[in-house]
Amino acid sequence: VLISGAGTNMAALVYASRITGCPYEVVLVASNDPEAAGLAFAASEGIAIFSLPHRGLTRADHDAAMEAAVRQAGADHIVLAGYMRILSDGFVERWEGRMLNIHPSLLPKYKGLDTHGRAIAAGDSHAGTSVHLVTPELDAGEVLAQIAVPITPADTPETLAERVKLAEHQLYP
Ligand code: GAR
Repeated sequence: VLISGAGTNMAALVYASRITGCPYEVVLVASNDPEAAGLAFAASEGIAIFSLPHRGLTRADHDAAMEAAVRQAGADHIVLAGYMRILSDGFVERWEGRMLNIHPSLLPKYKGLDTHGRAIAAGDSHAGTSVHLVTPELDAGEVLAQIAVPITPADTPETLAERVKLAEHQLYP
């Protein structure tokens, strides 16, 4: 599981994996930010962690180091759970069909960043979240699951992001 921040989706994945019969286990949590809060959580859950700041490295070099860590951990799938880096095409292509991303919108709406602000500004009744296969085109791979959440009149991008995360945390079997 690759993260860049809080790692609440990663934590939901970890706890879902502890339920009897869950078909996966989390073998590594890796981040481009050594300060990512999710790393400390994963370490305290006894999960292997890896971090490497991307600053000063080419995208290809940073991706290669992340991919090496993933392979060394024995992972056969990668989940991008709030991993806020665009991946190089080669990395994505080697994992095609085995790399998932959690995106905070009802794709194909609002690919990219600031999804919550854009949904509010558009006057949408609902926002939501999507799990999709990762392909070289950003946020464009096949959608595997979606949950819609209402946008309320008082919502700010921050309050909406929190509600979307609550829905995201229910996505994992
Ligand atoms: C999640 O809401 C996820 O959908 C979003 O970042 C948040 C990470 O939260 N991902 C993206 O915006 C990817 N483009 P978390 O670190 O608490 O799981």
